[in-house]
This record gives sequence, structure tokens and C-alpha cells, in this order.
Amino acid sequence: MKILYVCTELYPLLKTGGLADVGAALPAALQAAGCHVRLLLPAFAAIAAGVRADGPAVPLPAAGGPQVLRTLQPAPRLIPGHVIESGQPVYLLDAPALYQREGGPYQDAAGQDWSDNAARFALLGWAAAALAYGADPHWQPDLVHAHDWHAGLAPLYLKLQANGRPAKPSVFTVHNLAFQGLFPASSCAELGLPQSLFTIDGLEYHGLLSFMKAGLQFADTITTVSPRYAQEITTSEQGCGLDGALRSRSEHLSGILNGVDYELWNPATDPLLNAHFDGKRMTGKARVKRALQRLLGLEERPDALLFAAVTRLTEQKGLHLLPPILPELVERGGQVVILGSGDDAIETALRDALERHPGQAALRIGYDEALAHRIIAAADVVLVPSRFEPCGLTQLYGLRYGALPLVHAVGGLADTVTDCSLEAIDDGSASGFVFHEFSSDALRGAVRRAFALRRRSADWNAVQRHAMHQRFDWQEPAHAYRALYQRLLSIPV
Ligand code: ADP
Ligand code: GLC
Repeated sequence: MKILYVCTELYPLLKTGGLADVGAALPAALQAAGCHVRLLLPAFAAIAAGVRADGPAVPLPAAGGPQVLRTLQPAPRLIPGHVIESGQPVYLLDAPALYQREGGPYQDAAGQDWSDNAARFALLGWAAAALAYGADPHWQPDLVHAHDWHAGLAPLYLKLQANGRPAKPSVFTVHNLAFQGLFPASSCAELGLPQSLFTIDGLEYHGLLSFMKAGLQFADTITTVSPRYAQEITTSEQGCGLDGALRSRSEHLSGILNGVDYELWNPATDPLLNAHFDGKRMTGKARVKRALQRLLGLEERPDALLFAAVTRLTEQKGLHLLPPILPELVERGGQVVILGSGDDAIETALRDALERHPGQAALRIGYDEALAHRIIAAADVVLVPSRFEPCGLTQLYGLRYGALPLVHAVGGLADTVTDCSLEAIDDGSASGFVFHEFSSDALRGAVRRAFALRRRSADWNAVQRHAMHQRFDWQEPAHAYRALYQRLLSIPV
């Protein structure tokens, strides 16, 4: 079974969020599950610089058009400069005028969406279909798996380019329904898409062209990254205006939980830590905590309950719930560390709140992979108070590193964390703290429960051990995707 995996981010070369982690780990897990997987990504400078050429470029069937470069991906390794080839083949869509520029993959350095995003990502979907129908004489996928709105036109182009042949099937995975790829109606003609598709049952979304909706309408199967989020997005509260479209396709919609790459996220071997630990020997965690407290200018108190968040600072992530409860958290002897970047207003609000507690709270703005590992390893509690969360990865890292997740009961957070109710502590299933109403008061309640559990050290230790023993690896999700591919290709499962 040959699968073309189409996305825009790839850890460790280019990452704005969890999409990159999944892009690195899932194809490798699918390969291990017996699929033959190649990736297709735009040749962004950061990606092109990190891969190795592997054979001649493949011209695409368009006059004076782009080509795809055949390359091999490095294996993600944590030690800077220590890159090992994974051998995973990657096609890079080489269109320098569209992809080789200073700034981010979707926005310029000032945070404005690139004005030609419609053309930039339409080309990605078009190239996926061109490869599906034989642009590379040496390799033709049986199925295209497209990720998020950037690749949302791939399922449509597979239908448009079929030219009388049976269209190659597609899977479309929604990582975040809030980002939809919306463009003026005129883009439809500019991209050469049939005007007849610009309808409510097609590409039109409130008078705009929607790449996300294209993926939802034209893919043979839709998945998202947790079972709970798959349900949530069919409701008007969480459907971002696309719940009707999703409900009409509900028999083709399912949720497959993301996994974690435990080669990269393992407290017993993590090369970015000054000490190591596992469920049986926890003294290393105390040393990592002390080192982090020193690094960030926090009081070196081993007994301080350390709450941490590693996150994009956007409205989605819910960190604005924190400032009102910070005084109580610190008064109870807690400390807070936040590593994040994003929205200026959220950044300023957090800075104002945290600066009032010198020695007990620290904010680091920026993207820092090494610090992220140290923070998760040092923390007692990982905060993920998201308004919505399709899957979420940091709560899963927290579980593995004995930093109990404190989460809002939505999406993948609800699917992966079990609250420390007395029953759950008693039956051994408790792994963290879950609050239901999206408010500072509800967050405060969960923070109080964390302090209460900490005072019962035998219970705390039992919950922590259970959290650390849980496994959310990629094997099970990879088998679920493979079964889905087999069904689409009518191969017995
Ligand atoms: P999302 O994709 O919505 O941002 P996820 O939890 O799925 O949320 O994935 C976020 C990923 O990005 C995780 O691997 C997390 O560790 C990482 N991350 C987020 N912010 C930072 C940061 N400031 N520095 C380092 N890593 C970060
Ligand atoms: C998105 C979601 C996040 C998910 C990630 C990877 O960025 O916001 O919840 O974990 O994609 O699927």
C-alpha cells in the first residue's frame, strides 16, 4: 500500500505546532506498520536545508511549472547537529517564488498572512494529485493522505485530474478546525477551479472560498486527532461554522488519537536533561527541578508545587484563565513557569501577572525545544487549560515525565487524562486534574485539588507512577490509519 502524506511542517526542520511532530512520527509509524509512505511538502527554505537529495527532480505536468525534488528526511534527534538519516523519502515541491522567503510558512515576519496563500497552498494540493496520477514514473501512491487546510484542495484535485479514470482515494485529517484557509470568492476563478463548485455543498463558506471545506467535502474519509474532537466538531459550539458540513459526512468522520515519539520524549534517556528518572527512580526529577529553578531565577524550593505550560500563546490555549488565580497559587506555596510565544496581548497580560511574583513565577517568550523538555521534566503539574484542543501533545509528554496534566475537559485532553476523583484514585485510573467549566474559578478548583493531592504523598506517588506507565505511542494509531486505508482500497483488513 503506497501512501502520499501531504503536509506543511516537519519536526525538527520546520515546526509551528503539533502538526510538525505528527508529520515526523506518523509516517515512520505507518512505514513500520507495513505501508510505503512518502511525504510531500512545500520546499520551504528550512526544510530544503535539512534534507538530502535522492535522485533527479521530477517535473510536474504544467507549462514552465514547478518540479518536485526527491529527498530523504533526517531522523529527528535531540542533540543539536546530531542528525541521523531516517531514510524516509520526502518530495519537496520546488517553487521558489512561492516558498523561498523570509518569514514563517503561513505568515510574514510581521505576522500577516502571505497575500498569495491561496496560490501557494492550491499548488500543494494540485501537486499531490499530479504525483497520484503518475508524475513520478518510479512511484505512484495508491492513496493520498492530506493534513489540515493547507492540503485541503488535494482531495478535490484528485477528482478533477482523474480524467475518466477512477479517482484515487483520499483521507483528510483535521488537526485544527479553527484555521480554515479562507480566501475571497474571486480566488476560485484565479485558481482555475470550476465556478460550479462554488456552492454551499462545495467550496463556498459565507461567500468565501474555504480550503478546509474542500477537504471536508471531497475527501473519501475525514479523520481528526481524537475521538472526542471528532464528536465536538459536529456541534454548533465547536464546529467553527462547519458543523453542518461535518454532520452531513458523519459516517465518514472518525477520531484517531495522536501518539508520542517516546524516542524523543523519555525521561530515562532524554539528552536535554541534567539528570534522568523513571517510574522507579525519581531522584533525578528533583535534580532537574532544582536546575530549572536556578536557570529561571525561581527560589530553589524542592517542595514548591511547580505548575508549567509550554504552548503557543493564542486564545485557544486558555492561559488568560491563569492570572486571576495566580496570587492564591503562589500563596499556597506553588510556582509557575510558562514558555510560549504568539499573541502580543496574551504575552503582555501574562508578563504583568507573573512579574508580580518574583522568585515564584517565570515567563520565557520564544520557541525553545531544549527548554521545553527541561520544563516538562521539572514540573509537577503541566497546565493545558485550552478552550478547545483537537488532541494536544504536552499533556501526553507530562504524563510520561511524571508531571500530572491539569486540563480543561475538551477534545484530546478529555480523552487522555483521568481526573483524581476519589473513585479514580481508588481504582488506579487517576492521572491528572480535569475541570469542566471554562472559567478561572473552575481552574482554581483543579489547582486546589492538585495541592490537596500533593499533601497526600502516597496517593500523589501512586497517581504519578500510573501516569508514567501509561503509553500513548504511535503503534495503535498507525494501525488504525492502515485499517482505514485498507477499507478505502478494498483490501481485506
Ligand atoms: P498545537 O499544535 O495546538 O500548538 P500541541 O500540544 O499539539 O499543540 O503541540 C505543540 C507542540 O509544540 C508540542 O510539541 C510542544 O512541546 C511544542 N511547543 C509549543 N510551544 C513551544 C515553545 N514555546 N517552545 C518549544 N516548544 C513548544
Ligand atoms: C493542532 C492542534 C493540537 C494537535 C496538533 C497535532 O495544532 O491544535 O491539539 O495536537 O494539531 O495533531
